[in-house]
Amino acid sequence: MPEFEPVLLANIGKADSHTLRVYAASGGYAALRKVLAEVPRERFVDLVKASGLRGRGGAGFPCGLKWTFLPKDHPGPIYFCLNADESEPGTFNNRILMEDDPHQVIEGLILSCYATRATTAYIYLRYEYPTALVRMQSAIDECYAAGYLGKNILGSEFSLDVYIHRGAAAYICGEETGLIESLEGKRAWPRIKPPFPAVEGVFRKPTVVNNVETVACVTHIAARGVDWFKSIGVPPDPKNPRDAGSYGPKLYCLSGHVERPGCYEAPLGITVQELIDRFGGGVRGGRKPKAAIPGGISMGLLKADEFDCPLDFNGPGRYGCLGLGTAAVVVMDETVSMIDFLHNSCRFFAHESCGQCTPCREGTAWSLKMLDRIKAGRGRLKDLDLLLEIGRTIGIIPGTTICGLADGAAWPIKNAIEKFRDEFEEYIRRTNPKGYMQTEPVPAFATLPVVTGSR
Ligand SMILES: Cc1cc2nc3c(=O)[nH]c(=O)nc-3n(C[C@H](O)[C@H](O)[C@H](O)COP(=O)(O)O)c2cc1C
Ligand code: SF4
Repeated sequence: MPEFEPVLLANIGKADSHTLRVYAASGGYAALRKVLAEVPRERFVDLVKASGLRGRGGAGFPCGLKWTFLPKDHPGPIYFCLNADESEPGTFNNRILMEDDPHQVIEGLILSCYATRATTAYIYLRYEYPTALVRMQSAIDECYAAGYLGKNILGSEFSLDVYIHRGAAAYICGEETGLIESLEGKRAWPRIKPPFPAVEGVFRKPTVVNNVETVACVTHIAARGVDWFKSIGVPPDPKNPRDAGSYGPKLYCLSGHVERPGCYEAPLGITVQELIDRFGGGVRGGRKPKAAIPGGISMGLLKADEFDCPLDFNGPGRYGCLGLGTAAVVVMDETVSMIDFLHNSCRFFAHESCGQCTPCREGTAWSLKMLDRIKAGRGRLKDLDLLLEIGRTIGIIPGTTICGLADGAAWPIKNAIEKFRDEFEEYIRRTNPKGYMQTEPVPAFATLPVVTGSR
């Protein structure tokens, strides 16, 4: 790994790192001052575009480009939604930023609103983050008192009000249009796109939705410049014309069976193995690794012999996963049953599907029913192909659903069965010796005792 100076986590660990006093002492809000005084907003959008910053919330969409989709002649209002819903399993980097360095996030938010001409920003905050709520609200209050928020910020013509909106405690509230519906006081049912939020978002007005870490990166692009940002990470893969490169620092959430779980900052492109060895202190108890999820459970699964996978926006896709997602890496050692892994994953998505699209509602529910049955010792080999069929047919990518939750449900199914099929087959044969070859339908709702020790 090349020489690297962490910036996103630079303040974490300092006493009172969440206060304006400590943030300002390390140069905080100097970038905002400079941009408001010297950089016209169009030029600032161009800078962020040129930096190659891609959204950190999961999809990796180029940030500056998204901002240019706002209608140029819109008389207003334009809204900015900071997506702080952070519900992807294994992901906690937004929480750490908001709890321990809220001003870094708010400076980025103010800069992003300046760029997008938004004069009202909503922070859609995960309901289960009470400390982040207190720290972010106190930081907002400090900003109003210091003239960083409110009317004519720092004597400029730019004004901004920021409100925190507590989330509705469901995974789907993090999907940007589900978030918008929830913010409007409705059920978080994702909207059919187009129109995209940039054209019709909150209260049907042009809206930008960005992730907490994305706007934190904007702060550092403003402070250190485009060349600095582009000097970190990896350039586009020449073999992939759709890869826009993966630039800048990234927060990786490392958890599961490692000695030192935590949130670590590294250049985009670090491999899973490097992350485990350099930051995680190796696999817990000296055991052998078996698998890892590369970027939140929605991204699928890597086998241990795929840990050379680079964690950039393009890397996990080359290993059959959905993408980098939230860069939350959960390591599983050799004691973990893939049947248990998949059962947990299916349980999560069946619970979180909002139910609007039949393929997602039924596909997630039926995959859980099949995993329940397999775990209970009534599985059939045929179930594996049925599960794969569900995995291949639900989601935005096959074009059957409104939002990406279904793709996220599909990938763990496809990866677990394709990469660990022998384990599934052995388990089904062993626990259902009389019925594993059965092909005729079996009861779906039978209440069956779960076989213990699924390994
Ligand atoms: C089911 C689902 C849940 C999501 N949850 C989050 C979330 O908690 N936080 C987030 O920033 N993005 C989440 N996203 C992605 C958002 O829809 C959106 O792409 C993102 O907030 C845009 O910000 P960015 O461009 O800065 O990444 C989710 C997407 C889906 C499909
Ligand atoms: S894909 Fe699933 S979660 Fe997304 S809108 Fe459709 S039913 Fe709801």
